[in-house]
This record gives sequence, structure tokens and C-alpha cells, in this order.
Amino acid sequence: MIPSGLLCLFRRNFSVSLKNNYKVAVLGASGGLGQPLALLLKLNRMIKQLDLYDLVKAPGVAVDCSHIETPPKCKGYGKKDLKKALKGAHIVMIAAGLGRKPGMTRDDLFKKNADLIKEIMEKCAKVCPKALVGIITNPVNSLVPIACEILKQNCGDPKRVFGITTLDTCRANTFVGEYAKKSPLDINVPVIGGHSADTMIPLFSQTTPKVDLCGEVVQKMTKRVQNAGTEVVKAKGSSSTLSIAYAAARFTNSLLRGLKGEKNVIESAYVKSDVVCGVSYFATPLLLGKNGIEKNLGVGKLNKFEKKIMAKAVKALKKNIDKGVKFAKSSK
Ligand code: LMR
Repeated sequence: MIPSGLLCLFRRNFSVSLKNNYKVAVLGASGGLGQPLALLLKLNRMIKQLDLYDLVKAPGVAVDCSHIETPPKCKGYGKKDLKKALKGAHIVMIAAGLGRKPGMTRDDLFKKNADLIKEIMEKCAKVCPKALVGIITNPVNSLVPIACEILKQNCGDPKRVFGITTLDTCRANTFVGEYAKKSPLDINVPVIGGHSADTMIPLFSQTTPKVDLCGEVVQKMTKRVQNAGTEVVKAKGSSSTLSIAYAAARFTNSLLRGLKGEKNVIESAYVKSDVVCGVSYFATPLLLGKNGIEKNLGVGKLNKFEKKIMAKAVKALKKNIDKGVKFAKSSK
């Protein structure tokens, strides 16, 4: 049993089901993001085996986690054991690689993190081709296309790759909740597009339950959501680790609920997609199920302001996608 005090951590249907059958692998598990993600996943009762991989210290993180009085078994793997960590995984969450320092954009991380994603995806294609893969590492807009291309080159299924954009929705929910003096737990703001300032499109017009926001507030809040990652980088001197770990744990939980056959599990992510003209990857709400994506729920009805930012976002996203695809093709 998770002590009842901790259950308050798990809103959004973090499951307390007794089903406990899944293996999740976290790559980059000893970093600033990987450790809180490992902790949150250790509290998830749908996970039977939690394998933690990193170049250094993952076995130690696993021993630490293993003392938590929850069902998942933890095992840590070092540099040479990526294959072992991936073997049998139903879900692979990639938190490996560099984060931002003040003054950097997510795209500035491309050079450092692209090779890493390529190497990991080649192994995933061989060792756990059926796993659902979540990419938290930035720049998500370009690394997801790389991951999908590498899977395609290795006869894998690009539909099983998800760029984690959950934090954008979490942030929009929080900001609307603060403004409307309501609990953010009861608010849902879809955020579509990509995961960078110029590609995020918060859809405040589709907030549920409906919250009345005037034009000026919508403009300010849109900017705040788009720049929220940078707000953290400036305040902390490095990228978010705690809020992003929460968001990744929430997304993993939703994937698990889908795998388990639960109905109506909806979560947004940046995926291979044909819902928007001109771009082959886009974040939208997705209905999740036993095979990952059951149905792409699309962008819904946009107002004039949202259409305007969407047009800009599509242009920027196209460049990010082309960069990723080109990298994957040239490094064949
Ligand atoms: C975030 O949105 O917090 C993450 O993408 C990390 C970052 O560098 O902004």
C-alpha cells in the first residue's frame, strides 16, 4: 500500500489498481531529472520492474529507490548495460543528455543530444521494438523525428514514440488555476504544437471547465506558458527537473493505464502525425490504449488568436523537424 498521505501526489488518476505487470526503463536515471522521475515511478503500483540506466551511479540510485516501501522492484545498470536495462521494457522513458544553461535555447542542445538519441533508439529497435518510448530530452521537436527515423531504418514502429509535452499542459493548468482562484487539479488546458517557445500553442479557448479570460490575459498567459521553461532556467541556472519529472511520471502513468486497457485515457504528446498541413510531427491530445495511440484527437476548433500563433508555430516546427530528419538520414 502507498501510505494514504502520499496518494494526494497522484491526482489525474495515478492508478492504485492492483495490476502490477509492467516493466519501465528510465534512461538518464541518475541525473537531476532522472532521479525524481525514478522516485515518482517507484510509487506507481502498475509497475513491476523499474530499471534505471545511466552512464554512472544508476545502480546506487536503484538501491536508494529500492528501500521505498512500494511494489516495483528496482535494478540499476551502468554504461555497458543499456541492452539489459531495455530488455522486456513495455515503456522506455528517455531523460538522458544535457539540459539548458541560462541563455541557451532548447535547439542549442541538438548537437549534444542528437547522437545520444540515435544510439539509444538503435538499441531500442533491436532489444525492445514493441516498447512505447517517451522522449523528455531536448530539443524534443527535433529528437522525436530522429527517434522515429531511426526506428523506421531498423524496421521499428514510429507510432510508438512520444515527445513529452505534458509539462506545457501542467503549467497552463497551474497558471489558469492561479488566475481564476481554482484548483489547477480541476483544470485542463490543451497545449498543442511543439515544445519550444515559438511552437507551443496553449488553447485557452478549449479550457475545461470553461474559464473566462479576456484577450489581454490570454496573450500574457500564452507568453508565460511559452517561456515557462526559460523562466525556470533563469531562476535555477539550469533546466527544470522536478516539474518535468512530475509531468513525465504523469504521462508514464497514462501510458500504463492505456496498456492495461483502461478507457478514455487522454494525454497530449508530440508525435508523428498528419493532423496539421505542412508538418509531419505535432503535439495534440491523444486517446491512449493497448498499442499506445488509439486515436489522434486533433487540434479542435481554434479561435483567431490561436490560428495566428499556429501559423508561426508550423513554420518554426517544420525547420526543427527537417533538422532532425536530415540528421537521421545522413547518419545512416
Ligand atoms: C522545460 O520546459 O522545462 C524543459 O523543456 C526543460 C527546458 O530546458 O526548458
